[in-house]
Amino acid sequence: MDRDDLIRRVRQYADRKGLALGERLGAGIHGTVFAAEYQTNGGRSAVKGHERQPAYLRERDVYLRLRAFDITVIRGCHVPTLLDYDDDLWVIEMTVVSRPFVLDFAGANLDQEPDFSDEVLADWRAEKQDQFGPRWPEVQAILGSLEGYGVFLLDVNPGNVSFDD
Ligand SMILES: Nc1ncnc2c1ncn2[C@@H]1O[C@H](COP(=O)(O)OP(=O)(O)OP(=O)(O)O)[C@@H](O)[C@H]1O
Ligand SMILES: [Mg+2]
Repeated sequence: MDRDDLIRRVRQYADRKGLALGERLGAGIHGTVFAAEYQTNGGRSAVKGHERQPAYLRERDVYLRLRAFDITVIRGCHVPTLLDYDDDLWVIEMTVVSRPFVLDFAGANLDQEPDFSDEVLADWRAEKQDQFGPRWPEVQAILGSLEGYGVFLLDVNPGNVSFDD
């Protein structure tokens, strides 16, 4: 799937919902996220178009889980709330959040603890410690809270777990 196809699907979603697409909030390996506004009432949302179906389904299911638990904040970090989704267009519509936030569950496992060797895990921890510096214990606490809901976040980076500073 190429970028043009993704944009085409996001546009189709926006048209169907009566949303005007705004600025790009960000992009990554799994997709592209746009700000959007309801033409009827000016309500705002974030629309994420996915490149591929498996990551779309993983992220959709995590957001459904978080919504079932009414999660909007985890340890002081905002978590987007799922507003709507489209299984054919691979689009997730959610609330726009500001920092500090935790988002992007395209690379998360649901109800399945990742089965890494001790060695791989130690390397991973060292890398994350380096990336997050003094914030790493806070990030670990957030990951622990998510695990309480069956969400194992693997794609842990400062774009996905982001603080004010
Ligand atoms: N709901 C939202 N509210 C505000 N900003 C958002 C929202 N969703 C995404 N963003 C911004 O867009 C960026 C890219 O989104 P996201 O991380 O979901 O994409 P991705 O393709 O899955 O990225 P990755 O390469 O990390 O897998 C985020 O880092 C964040 O800055
Ligand atoms: Mg990301």
